[in-house]
Formats: sequence, structure tokens, C-alpha cells
Amino acid sequence: MSETALGAGAAARAALASGGSASDRMGGDWAPVLAEVPLFADLSSRHLKRIAKLAHTRRFSHGAAILRAGDPGNAFYVLLDGAVKVVPARGKPVRLEGGASFGEMALLDDSPRSADVVADGEVLTMTISRRAFEKLLRSEPSLSRVLLRTLAQRLRAAQGD
Ligand code: CMP
Repeated sequence: MSETALGAGAAARAALASGGSASDRMGGDWAPVLAEVPLFADLSSRHLKRIAKLAHTRRFSHGAAILRAGDPGNAFYVLLDGAVKVVPARGKPVRLEGGASFGEMALLDDSPRSADVVADGEVLTMTISRRAFEKLLRSEPSLSRVLLRTLAQRLRAAQGD
């Protein structure tokens, strides 16, 4: 049986073993998996359960386009298992692995998706709707701090190319 890149939460094991459907509602029993996501590092298990209840899991097979540059943004993604390739309109492709998040930019500045994001192997994501993402940022300042740090790191990496 496979495990997520983030560890072996019972819910994650069950979702991976069952194959799941295209989009399954998460629940509070995902909290141990979310605890390993750097974005959520400062949150209590009560908060993690709340986030899990707002979210869905989605599975993608190798080569699937998770996001397409130019599309409107309606959700935020956390990579629970597997890896993705981010292919920006300009600049070099970037690989993201378990625990990374993506899809925040279009939600933050209300602009189209800045890059294609393609599954590199089998991928399991957690998705949060735009509305829930905005609510979370208002209620959890630590999320904004981590997202800003990540954006700064990605900008530096892109400038270094
Ligand atoms: P968004 O523009 O909503 O959709 C594509 C996503 O790819 C984007 O949000 C970021 O999360 C991610 N992304 C875009 N460019 C880069 C980059 N240079 N490095 C890492 N991730 C990126």
C-alpha cells in the first residue's frame, strides 16, 4: 500500500488505497497529514481539523494538466503526494514535491493562472476553494506569513535563472 509523501495518516492511506473519486471531501481525520505541510506548521490540531473540513482531495494521473496558464483561478492546492512540474509562460520549469503548495497567485491578485502545472507521476492534492482560502488567510495570519515567504523564495529563484 502506498503512503503519502507526508506520512501515513489513516485517511490518506484509505484515500490512496481506494483510488477515491475525482474529488472527495476531506475530514478531520486528515489533520495528522496536514500537520506535516510546512504551510500549516504553526497551526493547532483544532485548526487543522477545521481546514480539512473545508477541503477536498483530488487525484491526477501522470501528465494531467492540474492548472493551465491563462485560466481563471478558483482554488488553492497543496501537494499531498507525488510531484508536479510548474511551467511558467517565461522562465524555466520548476518541480514541486510533497508538502508544497501552488495556485495561490491567481487568488491573491485576481489575475489568470501564471503557469501550467502538470502532474509528474501520480498526484494527490488537497484543494481549497477561493472563498475558503480567503477566509483562512483572514483568520490565520501565520498562513499569510508562510505564503509571503514562499513567494519571496520563488521570486529569488526565478531571478537567479
Ligand atoms: P497561479 O498563478 O495561481 O497558478 C500557477 C501556479 O504555479 C502559481 O499560482 C504558483 O503557485 C506556481 N508558480 C508560478 N511560477 C512559479 C515559479 N517560478 N516557481 C514556483 N511556483 C510557481
